Amino acid sequence: MKQIFDIPLNRNNTWSTKWDLYKDKDIIPLWVADMDFKSPNIVEDAFKERIEHGGYGYTEIPPELNKEIINSYKKNNWLIQEDWIVWLPGLETVIHQIYNLIMDTQSVIVPRPIYPPFLNAAKHSNKKIIFHDLEKVDGRLVYNLEKLSEEAEENSWLMFINPHNPGGTVFSKDELEDLATIINKKNMYVLSDEIHSDFILNSDDQHLHIASCKDMADRVITINSLSKTFNIAGLNCAFSIIPNPAIRKQFQNVLKGQTPSPSIFGLIATLACLKGGEAWKNNLLEYLNKNKDFLLEELSPREDIEIIEPRGTYLLWFKVLNYHKANLQQHFENFGVGLSDGKDFGKPGWIRLNFGTNLELLTKAIPRIHKALDDLI
Ligand SMILES: Cc1ncc(COP(=O)(O)O)c(C=O)c1O
Repeated sequence: MKQIFDIPLNRNNTWSTKWDLYKDKDIIPLWVADMDFKSPNIVEDAFKERIEHGGYGYTEIPPELNKEIINSYKKNNWLIQEDWIVWLPGLETVIHQIYNLIMDTQSVIVPRPIYPPFLNAAKHSNKKIIFHDLEKVDGRLVYNLEKLSEEAEENSWLMFINPHNPGGTVFSKDELEDLATIINKKNMYVLSDEIHSDFILNSDDQHLHIASCKDMADRVITINSLSKTFNIAGLNCAFSIIPNPAIRKQFQNVLKGQTPSPSIFGLIATLACLKGGEAWKNNLLEYLNKNKDFLLEELSPREDIEIIEPRGTYLLWFKVLNYHKANLQQHFENFGVGLSDGKDFGKPGWIRLNFGTNLELLTKAIPRIHKALDDLI
């Protein structure tokens, strides 16, 4: 089964966002966070069943799907209830819409670096935004809790990603509990984006939900999807978990009439993956770890970059120490690799590399990355 990740998935002429950006150009796309792996066969099998039926009308959430979600959270030590689950077509839309339920009197804490839609949503809101720069401690990007407790205002919202994109931090129990203490003390709320929660690269780590920390459930909207894990982001299916009935109602009011339901194929694929995707996922993690080790072996000896070693996600975040070009993304493209520019994440001079692809392609990309970096010396 493992070898399937070595088979290049030709995504040309499939309307792929990642690949079409560089259509007909010799640029290896290692940017947007989706993977170049064929989804597990269970997805195809589940689709076939529906295609044979041929009906694609308006669709309800199958109760079986909620049960699978509840079970998967139970395995991860968070007991959730069915009515806490609110289904969504995707996370990005909610990152924007969340501002519609935040009151004008509430401020919003946006850590940096951060997945770009959080910055775009903040820019387009009329709320007071407080930026919090994450710091590198023992090789990991973490919150400066002392600063955060000074900066945080009563009643504010924290935009939290765990595991963190782009930094790859998997927040520990102690770190979550320390954050929870500040959040409770300041009567704050959290949007917790856990879309990368299946990508725990190191077996010593575990994904924990901030909402399951003491006294936190009523303060958190958790958003998640299986779209990253099983490479089904084009199917538009995600969900949120909102234990607080008042916040849930507000949230549902914000969505009503504006946000479509998940797509029928998204629901089918999500259910299939929850029921039978575990082995595929474990093999994927093994493969991604090999990719990560390869990249670190190749790039760590360089003294002109500072790498944050990811413990979660399939993203490598590094600082280009000789950065002096306004357009770093363009610079790497000139050398034949498509990477994500740190300025979009609130950190100019940094780069994000997506290693959710086959090793052969990464091996081809490495000399190009070296050449691009050498050119900056
Ligand atoms: C942290 C994070 N949140 C949300 C998303 C996007 O989610 P969706 O495709 O459901 O809009 C991504 C995609 O890269 C992501 O990395």
